[in-house]
Amino acid sequence: MQTVNRVDPLRTAVAALRADGPLALVPTMGALHEGHLTLVREARNRAAHVAVSIFVNPRQFGANEDLGKYPRQLAADSALLEAEGVSLLWAPEAAVMYPAGYATNISVAGVSAGLCGAARPGHFDGVATVVCKLFNQVQPDLALFGEKDWQQLAVIRRMTRDLDLAAPQADAIVGVPTVREADGLAMSSRNAFLSPDDRANAASLPKAMRAAIAAAKRGSSLTEAETALNSALLGGGFSSVDYAEFRDAASLERLERLGDRPARLLVAARIGGTRLIDNMPV
Ligand code: PAF
Repeated sequence: MQTVNRVDPLRTAVAALRADGPLALVPTMGALHEGHLTLVREARNRAAHVAVSIFVNPRQFGANEDLGKYPRQLAADSALLEAEGVSLLWAPEAAVMYPAGYATNISVAGVSAGLCGAARPGHFDGVATVVCKLFNQVQPDLALFGEKDWQQLAVIRRMTRDLDLAAPQADAIVGVPTVREADGLAMSSRNAFLSPDDRANAASLPKAMRAAIAAAKRGSSLTEAETALNSALLGGGFSSVDYAEFRDAASLERLERLGDRPARLLVAARIGGTRLIDNMPV
């Protein structure tokens, strides 16, 4: 595995890999866990070579968020990727990604609004901007993202389509199903911040979500199912719920009732100072 942290050597490395066959990109912020490695394995199944980026993107963190304490473990991450047969690790510093004078922002309206977009103003501008840069830097044939960040996936698909990006094209953005712990909690780098008690209580999140989906499918109104989910989380050790909503899976529009189009239940809730997100198909 080759590791590069400047754009010029990255372009040389990418050109050599692409000459050898399709190249897949897995963008990450590091602190890799089984969820990321699942993306890498899926990428290896689909392409001749896999590039992984590790960049803790300051533009997607709000002023009061956890940029400073976001786990950074490049040496350990690098060893994991090497063992998975990754060809290229792109690990730029912030000054390489955003050199002095950097002034461009990408803002995706519609799907960025509401849900995490409401709780984290500017977050999806930061994500769209860095992912557009990563796509232009690596020019992969396909790119893989976890479905755990469902709204992020919708923003990236919209941005890729709207900007007519050529590498990857919008239909080569691959969403990979969420990897879960044995008790159902979605894997996340943020789980490491949970105390043992909070970690045990956090399993009430997927459990309450499954119950809400079952209630909605049995004919309970979506508002009732959302209210019951909210109460179950607050009763299960969560201190607050940012949102717990049934939405159209593609447009992310709010749903009043289940219909013919695929729906998704999306939740963000806080436990012991840590904000967890999850989503499930309905
Ligand atoms: O999902 C993430 O880890 C990040 O939001 C991403 C897509 C790598 C952009 O920084």
